[in-house]
Amino acid sequence: MCAPQCQRNGVSFDSSRSLLSYSNIIHEAAMSVLDTLLNRNSHARLIEPGPDAEAVAKILHAALRAPDHGRLRPWRYVVIQGGRRRALGDCFVDSLKLRGVSDSAKLDKAANAPMRAPLIIAGLLHAVEHDTISRDEQAHAVAASLAAAQIAAESLGFGCIWRTGGYATDPLVVETLGGAAGDQVVGFLYLGTREGPSKLLPEESLDAFVSHF
Ligand SMILES: Cc1cc2nc3c(=O)[nH]c(=O)nc-3n(C[C@H](O)[C@H](O)[C@H](O)COP(=O)(O)O)c2cc1C
Repeated sequence: MCAPQCQRNGVSFDSSRSLLSYSNIIHEAAMSVLDTLLNRNSHARLIEPGPDAEAVAKILHAALRAPDHGRLRPWRYVVIQGGRRRALGDCFVDSLKLRGVSDSAKLDKAANAPMRAPLIIAGLLHAVEHDTISRDEQAHAVAASLAAAQIAAESLGFGCIWRTGGYATDPLVVETLGGAAGDQVVGFLYLGTREGPSKLLPEESLDAFVSHF
């Protein structure tokens, strides 16, 4: 007969196991979260394979667990992959042209920018009117959600880099991505398999950034 089971966050609990063995599992899981956070490292050179549909769903579910004042859900995510990356590149070119850029090297770079990773998640701020929760605060929630997505992608073994550029706030780009008037891209997460070595992690000192009140 099967032992009674319950499931939470994808982990199933089997009543026949000792509490001690569960505390070891939980401790190891916590260590691995901390390891991912302490060692996160953006990676610009990304190749196939990108995350599959199941991995993308996990990454986006992690994003949806970000802190969100008032649960306003001020975020929208657009997944761009395959040939649609070319369409995004065309839109980047149009965006530059509208801003007066005619240099062919710059236009070529823009056209190819989305090809730098197999898959991109655009995270948009879709702010709602609210008496006390400002647009800024809602943008912070979207940023927190993209940071969570980035950590989730790393924990699944993918490389990732967050990019913006002048495209992020261009209404043409936002509209092409299906955003509403007033929306903006808080980040384009470029995702894929790391090519080449990772950058060295810098040594960080808390002293420069932390004080005790
Ligand atoms: C809001 C935001 C926008 C960014 N935009 C760009 C960008 O357009 N191009 C870029 O090369 N890096 C951009 N970055 C920085 C990279 O994502 C990354 O943080 C940087 O290369 C440092 O690497 P690290 O994250 O491993 O420390 C941006 C980061 C943030 C948070």
